[in-house]
Amino acid sequence: MCGIVGAAAQRDIVPVLVEGLRRLEYRGYDSCGIAALGDGRLERVRSVARVADLADQVSKLKLAAQTGISHTRWATHGAPLTHNAHPMVSRDEIAVVHNGIIENYEDLRSELKAAGYAFDSETDTEVIAHLVRSYYDGDLFQAVRRAVKRLSGAYAIAVIAKSQPHCVVGARAGSPLVVGVGTQEMFLASDALALAGTTERIAYLEEGDVAEIGREGFRVRDAADREARRVVRVVKAGSAPVELGPYRHYMQKEIFEQPSAVAATLEGVEAVTPALFGKDALRTLQGARSVLILACGTSYYSGLVAKYWIESLARLRTQVEIASEYRYRDSVPDATTLVVVVSQSGETADTLAALRHARKLGQKRTLAICNVATSAMMRETRLRFLTHAGVEIGVASTKAFTTQLTALFLLALLLAKLGKRLPARAEAQHVKRLRHLPTALASALALEPQVIAWAERFAKKEHALFLGRGIHYPIALEGALKLKEISYIHAEAYPAGELKHGPLALVTREMPVVTVAPNDALLEKVKSNMQEVRARGGELYVLADADTRISTQEGMHVIRLPEHYGLLSPILHVVPLQLLAYYTALARGTDVDKPRNLAKSVTVE
Ligand code: M6R
Repeated sequence: MCGIVGAAAQRDIVPVLVEGLRRLEYRGYDSCGIAALGDGRLERVRSVARVADLADQVSKLKLAAQTGISHTRWATHGAPLTHNAHPMVSRDEIAVVHNGIIENYEDLRSELKAAGYAFDSETDTEVIAHLVRSYYDGDLFQAVRRAVKRLSGAYAIAVIAKSQPHCVVGARAGSPLVVGVGTQEMFLASDALALAGTTERIAYLEEGDVAEIGREGFRVRDAADREARRVVRVVKAGSAPVELGPYRHYMQKEIFEQPSAVAATLEGVEAVTPALFGKDALRTLQGARSVLILACGTSYYSGLVAKYWIESLARLRTQVEIASEYRYRDSVPDATTLVVVVSQSGETADTLAALRHARKLGQKRTLAICNVATSAMMRETRLRFLTHAGVEIGVASTKAFTTQLTALFLLALLLAKLGKRLPARAEAQHVKRLRHLPTALASALALEPQVIAWAERFAKKEHALFLGRGIHYPIALEGALKLKEISYIHAEAYPAGELKHGPLALVTREMPVVTVAPNDALLEKVKSNMQEVRARGGELYVLADADTRISTQEGMHVIRLPEHYGLLSPILHVVPLQLLAYYTALARGTDVDKPRNLAKSVTVE
């Protein structure tokens, strides 16, 4: 994935390049670096620590320049070590930053080695630097256009040449790149957010574009090497830094913001109307005969919950598929299927590619449920619903999940209503319950002290099992994902009925078994599954609700949610699991907001 920035100006642009990286750290934080052109020299500074360390180095070196590029990395090819950190430099003339993966890099590497180019890194990116250098004869724009024709895979790049100190050339295919337009200064960046506070005037580059920016303007050649115009629009990406307030981590803050995030998402919702999903919603949704939900990670789990809602309320067949699987499967398209992409960022490469794949197959009824209004998914779907979770910074998704569920429940209600399966009274009751959700979420958050006591025990374990059934099985999956991604404890989730088909062999006293057990139609079945665990000496940690008749006893710890919440119960039961992961990670001393090996937004496949 990675994030890139480029700038050509009359003033010193080093602070813009560094601040841009701070804003792009959500795309990866394995290493970072900057290359700048000043006084006829090409200077490069790199760090395998965070952007703050790069900023320190830059300020100690008093680095100042009017043209430059910068990069924050999520490692794909080559370990996160300094020699693999971007920018990559060729023969002290060309410097390149890259977001994406070059699939034919091995062939190019052999060719360039044979031509005498020496490689200093294990990255795929270094071939771009040498390739551009091999074509460079004083015209960087042309050299990059020739070089990208040789690349297969995904890339957004920014390139500078020491002999042309006032321009930066960018190119994109498969990875995003925008041009930022200032007054006598121009920028390139992976997204508009990187330039917030610098410029709001943004042009989105298209697939195959190569752009040259200079102080006075920019020019673009499209995939067919024709001159092209790209519209400059005002994009309000929000420049205010997000304050932590009284919290220790953004994840903790975001967990506690869920009542207000859900309330903001429901703002103005008095009834279930097509207008909630965009102006073309009535026509698009009315003809839908089935639903296909595509997403990754936590967003995929929200889709799994929605399947239960849509099938039981609207009686529409619903399929939920991991985006990276769908896009390569020989699926059977159906023009009457509503394709829903669910994503916090709206930029996840696999989900975006799955959406484009579905459209290519002729599936035109598309809807994005997303937390970023300006994202690619929101631009590329016919219908859209913006969740108002606010900026989510913690890599572990929390408030994005509960607001996605809120949006998906509204979708299920709307599809039911359009299918004449939602009488007015039932609609009013559902809306009333939805409106009560922020209060119910606040009660779930009040369980924090009890969850902290559980977390102290979990912190000493290396494995955990999560069980759920029916609509709460995806909540077990989400609880396990949260725990593993921030505490590094191995956690797996199973439908409770599946335990006896294999995973029961893992159960010992050392294996805590978290069970989501509200009083729904499957409770008695779940209780039997819990007995199976107890009989093997396993220790149970049970999330029950007001109506579940089980209480704490030898080998069984129970936390009870204060209300029984029917169909919306998954939205509440995930909260103690988020808190459990957070406090377990805290006790283990991990980097909660930026866990190892991960990134907030996964923009490579
Ligand atoms: O931005 P998206 O919702 O598309 O991201 C999808 C996943 O990468 C994301 O949910 C990931 O699984 C989270 N780190 C989970 O906490």
